[in-house]
Amino acid sequence: MTEVIRSAEALREKVSGWKRAGALVGVVPTMGALHDGHLSLARAARSQSDRVIVTIFVNPMQFNNADDLAKYPRDEAHDLALLEADGVDVLFAPGPEEVYPGGFASKVTVAGISAPMEGAFRPGHFDGVATVVTKLFGMTQAGRAFFGEKDWQQLQVVRRLVRDLNIPIHIIGCPTIREEDGLAMSSRNVRLTAAERAVAPALHQAMQRAAEAIRAGAPVAEALETARSQVLAAGFAAVEYLDLRGAETLEPLEAHTAPVRLLAAATLGAVRLIDNIEV
Ligand code: PAJ
Repeated sequence: MTEVIRSAEALREKVSGWKRAGALVGVVPTMGALHDGHLSLARAARSQSDRVIVTIFVNPMQFNNADDLAKYPRDEAHDLALLEADGVDVLFAPGPEEVYPGGFASKVTVAGISAPMEGAFRPGHFDGVATVVTKLFGMTQAGRAFFGEKDWQQLQVVRRLVRDLNIPIHIIGCPTIREEDGLAMSSRNVRLTAAERAVAPALHQAMQRAAEAIRAGAPVAEALETARSQVLAAGFAAVEYLDLRGAETLEPLEAHTAPVRLLAAATLGAVRLIDNIEV
């Protein structure tokens, strides 16, 4: 049975009991509308911890676009059934008042690494992520937290945050889960029309071709430009960025010096898709 807990106080009591019994607690923070990508994190948590908490909170502070927040898919009953099937111990699903009570005045900012890419196109986004993640780590008191490589920049921001603030939690990054045609699973994919869904894998395909070309020694700027054109030609409305960067520093790179990561965001109809791959 997966127990649903909505208050930080009840969660603290539950976790204190587990810890007194010597359990290692793992947490998977999510915004719900769960898919196999999220469930792969819950399974990793299951295999690497004694007790598993999945959190579902659609965090208003990280949305820079009110429409995106309003349209974010929500289906807690379905999510709960999936978590039950995977043997998750607790679903922590607080309401906005529990997370941001009246008078809430604090903000966590991770400078530098938060600035480019998602930070540039979604101002304030990573302040919202860093703040809520810090709160979730405090509320769950977990020893391990599982994050997807799908949100590569977010994973690096969280690693930096935990190091900088001495938060006693071990961050574990898990590989991106994809549909058969290569599209990275995302809660926002349900908002694609059938025609857009058919076009969507072109982003990952173009990125893979660019990565292969770069590995084979092609000039980086040329390979990236070709990939951008291919994404637009496939039917995407815009490519916000498609960049090669230091995998951990996220510094821009002109030449290929490992470890590097290819990261992209592009809009298809009304949906913004992101992806990243190792080069
Ligand atoms: P959300 O987008 O729901 O994602 C929750 C976690 O699932 C993140 O760690 C994300 O990287 C991971 N994930 C999403 N799609 C994935 C995929 N296809 N394969 C593997 N992992 C995947 O990311 C957030 O929520 C929020 O920003 C959050 C961290 C919960 C803070 O509010």
